[in-house]
Amino acid sequence: MANPPFPIPAPSPASAPASESASESASESARIKVCITLGTRPEAIKLAPVIRSFRQLPQVDTQVVLTGQHREMVAQVMSLFKLQADHNLDIMQPRQTLSDITCRSLKGLETLFTQIRPDIVIAQGDTTTAFAAALAAFYQKIPVGHVEAGLRTDDILNPFPEEANRRLVSQIATLHFAPTETSVNNLKASGVLRGIYQTGNTVIDALLTVADQSPDCEVPGLDWSQHRVILATVHRRENWGAPLADIAQGFLQILERFPDTALLLPLHRNPTVREPLKAALESHPRAFLVEPLDYAELVGAMKRCTLLLTDSGGLQEEAPGLGKPVLVLRETTERPEAIASGTAKLVGTEPATVVAAASELLSDPSAYSAMAKAINPFGDGRAAERIVNIVMTYFAGSSSRLQPHLQPHSHPG
Ligand code: UD1
Repeated sequence: MANPPFPIPAPSPASAPASESASESASESARIKVCITLGTRPEAIKLAPVIRSFRQLPQVDTQVVLTGQHREMVAQVMSLFKLQADHNLDIMQPRQTLSDITCRSLKGLETLFTQIRPDIVIAQGDTTTAFAAALAAFYQKIPVGHVEAGLRTDDILNPFPEEANRRLVSQIATLHFAPTETSVNNLKASGVLRGIYQTGNTVIDALLTVADQSPDCEVPGLDWSQHRVILATVHRRENWGAPLADIAQGFLQILERFPDTALLLPLHRNPTVREPLKAALESHPRAFLVEPLDYAELVGAMKRCTLLLTDSGGLQEEAPGLGKPVLVLRETTERPEAIASGTAKLVGTEPATVVAAASELLSDPSAYSAMAKAINPFGDGRAAERIVNIVMTYFAGSSSRLQPHLQPHSHPG
């Protein structure tokens, strides 16, 4: 087996004797510096449990870095989880291009990593921030821990550019925190030889934390008791343009066919997405187009809605945890577990297909309950704890250091 790509720092703080008489500055310098990078709302949601778990450890100096790829949408999540960032690169520009995000994040992170010298950089998922953070760390030979590793559609253009981002991060990362057995196998098929751990998805940790707080979602004019509410979200680049117009047509036809339904559509902040949706749907009396919900409201809406129509990845993972069927407005999904377990169906964007799938669920109680009762395959709410344990073991540098990959379902800790 090849040598580890990065040396394990020594001395190992996690295995040091507990009763040190060393000065405060020495123990300060012995702390493991974990730098957690994030740029968008889903990264904030999925990393919040990881940040909280690291921050409970006195032997870790946890530094949270926002690239600023998103501004308002990340700020909401940070405040919900009562988290503060240590650094903010504030890169967001209206109508930013992928190159803008990549260049500005890469350069900003290079400077920051040179200053703070992290022992490990944690990145999540498949956004441009995640890719830039992994690359910036790699250029400084800092090991990367990749949360939600191993998702694949095997179509490089779908989702775009996320499929490429996550494949690229897999080639650079040292520790791969794979949510499911499928993602473990995808990593192996991508040529990743070591450092793969099946942890579950941290989104379930976040969801359970928030769902416990009895979240609600008040929308002016929307009476939840009068309507069966369809909760919808759309933002993916591959749906911009004609697919977005098709999706809006599908929504209108569902509303017309089922007069007892209402559509709740939180709009993404991106004008390329929100403007055509507003133009097509805004005037319908049962279409409620609202600003992005904060995460607690979104969880409240998920709990109360009848079904979800979405192109979001995270909602495919969360809704089954709350017993809600999901129709996925995409041609592919990197979450085949949801399809296999029966909690989600891939319906694309063609109005006829979308309307047929929604109609079945809205008119056939047995079809509905088959989807609503399927088991959530994405985790048990302890993924962050496992991730933190794996990182600490990595730095302990003992014989219990990284094992190539744990047996499916045999989680550490
Ligand atoms: C990004 C991620 C996508 C993730 C999504 C979640 C990439 C390539 N894409 O897509 O994987 O699912 O975030 O939302 O990393 N905007 C604001 N305020 C905000 C956020 C966005 O005004 O708080 C607007 C800006 O005009 C910005 C635009 O939204 O230019 C698009 O944001 P961007 O990060 O480029 O792409 P997303 O579509 O959000």
